[in-house]
Amino acid sequence: MAGRIQDRVAVVTGGCSGIGLATVRRFVAEGAKVVIGDIDDARGGTLVEELGGADVATYVHVDVTSQEQVDALFRTAADTYGSVDIAFNNAGISPPEDDSILDTDLDAWRRVQEVNLTSVYLCCKAALPYMLEQGRGSIINTASFVAVMGAATSQISYSASKGGVLSMTRELGVQFARQGVRVNALCPGPVNTPLLQELFAADAERAARRLVHVPMGRFGEPEEMAAAVLFLASDDSSFMTATTFLVDGGISGAYVTPL
Ligand SMILES: NC(=O)c1ccc[n+]([C@@H]2O[C@H](COP(=O)([O-])OP(=O)(O)OC[C@H]3O[C@@H](n4cnc5c(N)ncnc54)[C@H](O)[C@@H]3O)[C@@H](O)[C@H]2O)c1
Repeated sequence: MAGRIQDRVAVVTGGCSGIGLATVRRFVAEGAKVVIGDIDDARGGTLVEELGGADVATYVHVDVTSQEQVDALFRTAADTYGSVDIAFNNAGISPPEDDSILDTDLDAWRRVQEVNLTSVYLCCKAALPYMLEQGRGSIINTASFVAVMGAATSQISYSASKGGVLSMTRELGVQFARQGVRVNALCPGPVNTPLLQELFAADAERAARRLVHVPMGRFGEPEEMAAAVLFLASDDSSFMTATTFLVDGGISGAYVTPL
């Protein structure tokens, strides 16, 4: 039986871990050819074999803050598999030195803006010409629930970067809606990935504090995000663009959560 994105060509940044990795696996299971862009070359190499080899997946070393490398990533997808149908612009970081505005220095601020926000600008800028030429495409940018809510346990640059991703996504979705290109933002709640585990390993109280606010009482799993990304990537979401797609266990709807 044909998959839900059979023979579509997808580019996934940050595809070697967490949400990106789960999405790569789901995309391949649903019939897509996937080009993975990441800086984790050791994982990238083994991953392609796991997925079934070069017929279905290609790994490209990409630092998403480099315009040259991002352009080469999307060119590889077009040259290798013939089109760029789906772009999941997902790579991001959440380093511990990004904290309260009172303690976060300018270098830490800038690094997070580059990796989380400038990267999405670069990826959209690189993907759009292919999609406009084809008259078809689906871009999904990873924002976060923190783009729509404030937290007292602050990561100031991270939150600001995700707000930027959300605004940029909305604007691109509106601008290109009549040319067949949809652009949507995935806003995950806290998800059980290395990014979150690293952040909370140093501070268990911080983890517990965040969990209290999740009505479902647990963190999300990467596979639950992959299912949402697949929906946004596929024709099942054909009337959706410029949306804030919250997949957050109910956080953004909650005032008081169950005990
Ligand atoms: N985990 C969560 O709770 C959560 C919640 C909301 C949003 N998000 C967002 O989801 C996205 C994925 O997060 P995750 O939890 O899967 O993280 P993760 O740390 O598990 O994976 C991130 C991947 O991005 C790659 N990466 C990092 N810097 C890069 C760079 N400069 N160039 C290319 N690749 C780079 C890493 O090597 C890694 O493979 C991020 O944008 C993150 O901000 C995560």
